[in-house]
Amino acid sequence: MRIDILSAVPELLESPLNHSILSRAQKKGLVELQVHNLRDYSTSKQKSIDDYPFSGGGGMVLSVEPIDLAIKSLSEKVEYDEIIYTSPDGKPFNQKLANHLSCKQNILILCGHYKGIDQRVRDNMVTMEISIGDYVLTGGELAAAVMADAIVRLIPGVLSDEVSALTDSFQDNLLAPPLYTRPAEYKGWKVPEILLSGNEKEIDEWRLEQSLERTKKLRPDLLNDNDQTL
Ligand code: ADE
Repeated sequence: MRIDILSAVPELLESPLNHSILSRAQKKGLVELQVHNLRDYSTSKQKSIDDYPFSGGGGMVLSVEPIDLAIKSLSEKVEYDEIIYTSPDGKPFNQKLANHLSCKQNILILCGHYKGIDQRVRDNMVTMEISIGDYVLTGGELAAAVMADAIVRLIPGVLSDEVSALTDSFQDNLLAPPLYTRPAEYKGWKVPEILLSGNEKEIDEWRLEQSLERTKKLRPDLLNDNDQTL
């Protein structure tokens, strides 16, 4: 899989994409993550990529031309399955959408910035708009990093123990059960006896019960979510 990210502030993406699991996934050749600086596609002398809105009011708007030139140039090398714009107006990002996108070959994420983006980009180039939550960030870079992280870890082979992605919270609309490690007792706080029993069948049943209980208590909305669509 390949994920291209087009940004006005590419520096913001350096650290999240180049450490730990995402760095290893790239080294193993399981994913290619490429960040592109929108300014490289500006045709102005000052390398400007934004302008004042025609409507007046505050804030700057990312211009259509550099984005068009960038997408055209990148699309000559890669055929994108989706061109995603990060925006608080977008479809809410969740595990279902992460699963869906992890099955794609090539995606391009266009990070919004400043006050917004020329509507003609959204109308004519973008195929999907995604929000990572009902709050407003200063730009789409952190949203793009969140999405890339959630998507890449689902690619087979990225996590050393593949089962661990399948047993994530949300993967089956249930929160994950509690986890414990050694010591079996600390300050009088004991690990549940069942986990020390070695009885795999009973442990699996206990884990499912715990998942259900946790979900009922913390996220009952998930239990009523039978919607299979994105
Ligand atoms: N850009 C600004 N806020 C955002 C959000 N909540 N999700 C995605 N992109 C954004």
